[in-house]
Amino acid sequence: MKFFLTGASGLVGSAFAQAAARRGHHVTGLVGAFAGPIPGVNVKRTLDLTDDAALTSAVLDAFPDAIVNCAAVAEPAQCDADPARAQALNVALPATLARLAHHLSAKFIHLSSEQVFDGTNASPYSLQSTPKPINLYGRQKLESERLVHAAAPEFAIILRAPLLTGNSLAGTRSLHERLFADWSAGKTPRVFSDEIRQPCTASNLTDLMLELLERNDVRGVYHWAGADALSRLELARRIRAHFKLSETTAPIEAVTRAADPRAASKRQAILTLDLKPLAGKVKTPIETFEAQLDQLIIPAPFRAWYQSV
Ligand SMILES: NC(=O)c1ccc[n+]([C@@H]2O[C@H](COP(=O)([O-])OP(=O)(O)OC[C@H]3O[C@@H](n4cnc5c(N)ncnc54)[C@H](OP(=O)(O)O)[C@@H]3O)[C@@H](O)[C@H]2O)c1
Repeated sequence: MKFFLTGASGLVGSAFAQAAARRGHHVTGLVGAFAGPIPGVNVKRTLDLTDDAALTSAVLDAFPDAIVNCAAVAEPAQCDADPARAQALNVALPATLARLAHHLSAKFIHLSSEQVFDGTNASPYSLQSTPKPINLYGRQKLESERLVHAAAPEFAIILRAPLLTGNSLAGTRSLHERLFADWSAGKTPRVFSDEIRQPCTASNLTDLMLELLERNDVRGVYHWAGADALSRLELARRIRAHFKLSETTAPIEAVTRAADPRAASKRQAILTLDLKPLAGKVKTPIETFEAQLDQLIIPAPFRAWYQSV
């Protein structure tokens, strides 16, 4: 298949390009600021995705079988810092891409987030649960779902993804990479002991995306996540233990939501997803956290620090 991939330099986009290349697909990868090579991308294009005319012409040039949208402002804090930019990338862009997919009769896959939910459910959110976002990022993701579905109901797959682990191109994007950034700078990351997440790796998510795109019978909204629901504190401690770092070299400050109510008001307590109907019906495995740890590498920017401790 010919893929038009936005966000090819990001955590998910770069994993998608590599997985697509392994499966013999052709990828036109779009980047914004990223200047380096991207394994798996056949044609790399630099484009500001908020430029509608340039985007439309790039899509029509590529004439893809599927559009894969991995571009976003994927950090809630960054959405709050620049709401207009976040609206353009998180809402207007997917709507435009969905219209283009409809125009070309191309498949379209868009990434949404577990953060469309409010995090007050002790049990996993299912596809029947009512989304109730508590931050701007979650509201934008929910709005994008509605617009994508309205523009391309017969072509679009929308995947609500969990907190992602894995290895990014820059080595600074994913959960363990951020911990390394803090530790190598002599900082102590503050980690919530009462926030529960159900992570999977970006590469596991992209294997699923490819599996769904290669089939002809999948449309609509789906949930995906890992096998284990763990506190952020447990996730951080297991990452530290996996890399055999000591509590002195790699300190972690455990905090509770009650101790930081201002931060907690925009963060969900428990985000777990019911993976029906995909669970058991797809070949992509649901990853344990242990299996995720085995895939993590020491991030390139922090290798010298790691070797020195
Ligand atoms: N990471 C997570 O834990 C997580 C969890 C759930 C859902 N998701 C969703 O998964 C998707 C991918 O997230 P991610 O973590 O891979 O994001 P990411 O690593 O932050 O990557 C964002 C991508 O968007 C591109 N981009 C941003 N603004 C652009 C612009 N104006 N023009 C061109 N490209 C632009 C960036 O390109 P440059 O760097 O080249 O500028 C980069 O490739 C997003 O929809 C996100 O909301 C992520």
